[in-house]
Amino acid sequence: MTDVTVFLSCSLFFISILRPGIGAEVSLWNVDINSSQNAVFRKTLYANTTIFMRFQGDLALCDSNLAFNISWYLRSSVCYNEVFNTPDNKALTMFGLDHMLKEDWNGFYSQGYMYFDNCSALFLPKVYYTDFSTYQPLISPQSEEGRPSNQSAPQGWLEKPDIGAVAKAWFDSPYLFIVKVQPQQRGDASGGRPGAEEEETNDVPGNLAFIMTVEMKGPREYSSPADWPLMMVCF
Ligand SMILES: *[C@@H]1O[C@H](CO)[C@@H](O)[C@H](O)[C@H]1NC(C)=O
Ligand SMILES: *[C@@H]1O[C@H](CO)[C@@H](O)[C@H](O)[C@H]1NC(C)=O
Ligand SMILES: *[C@@H]1O[C@H](CO)[C@@H](O)[C@H](O)[C@H]1NC(C)=O
Ligand SMILES: *[C@@H]1O[C@H](CO)[C@@H](O)[C@H](O)[C@H]1NC(C)=O
Ligand SMILES: *[C@@H]1O[C@H](CO)[C@@H](O)[C@H](O)[C@H]1NC(C)=O
Repeated sequence: MTDVTVFLSCSLFFISILRPGIGAEVSLWNVDINSSQNAVFRKTLYANTTIFMRFQGDLALCDSNLAFNISWYLRSSVCYNEVFNTPDNKALTMFGLDHMLKEDWNGFYSQGYMYFDNCSALFLPKVYYTDFSTYQPLISPQSEEGRPSNQSAPQGWLEKPDIGAVAKAWFDSPYLFIVKVQPQQRGDASGGRPGAEEEETNDVPGNLAFIMTVEMKGPREYSSPADWPLMMVCF
């Protein structure tokens, strides 16, 4: 067993499990979630690597009036530095972005969200999607200036998602995977006082504590980003 565990800051840890002789390579992150939270993951992925997400926790520590919107954004870039040298705060502003940061910083993106009515629904392993989200090329940074862009049609997948599968990598490339966890009070809690004003307690959404696991399972991987054959540093 050659497990290598590297601890990073911020309660985020990354485990690389190397299994010589077996094809699959797995990268796994566990993130403690106890409020509205964003997380950014960076990795070079082989085409067809699948990203899985699951949520584990103690129901007793989770406010039963909370619903959850877990949304994600996956972006590939030809530029190694766009993925690996972009700080988290800047990466978070790229959530949902359909265009390149600079001309010729080509890439593709895909996005989606999962909505859970309550903590029991969140913690239950399930197939989230009937089909994987399509992916499409990033458009030129200038194309928002009223000029119609020739964005090619989104491309999809033949494979159907397994339990926990969220997205798939379309090419061998560096990827940014950004996740937003948004707990929200369910609109009409049956225990709510009739006639009472809806309380806008967004900053205190109620108690929650769970572990979000992100797993990237691919055919194999380069031993380090430096081995990446197509690595391009963009200026
Ligand atoms: C939430 O998690 C953060 C980091 O893991 C920790 O510093 C903070 O104390 C936690 N807050 C609560 C209310 O548990
Ligand atoms: C992608 O992975 C799926 C299983 O996850 C496999 O069935 C399929 O053949 C793979 N496709 C390619 C092009 O490798
Ligand atoms: C969940 O969040 C995403 C992005 O933050 C948003 O586009 C989507 O409409 C939200 N879905 C629901 C049901 O609130
Ligand atoms: C949680 O939500 C599901 C629907 O997603 C519902 O079937 C279930 O009864 C809910 N459980 C609780 C404890 O509210
Ligand atoms: C956009 O598409 C149209 C029709 O397919 C084509 O005539 C035009 O040259 C394209 N423009 C660009 C900038 O690629």
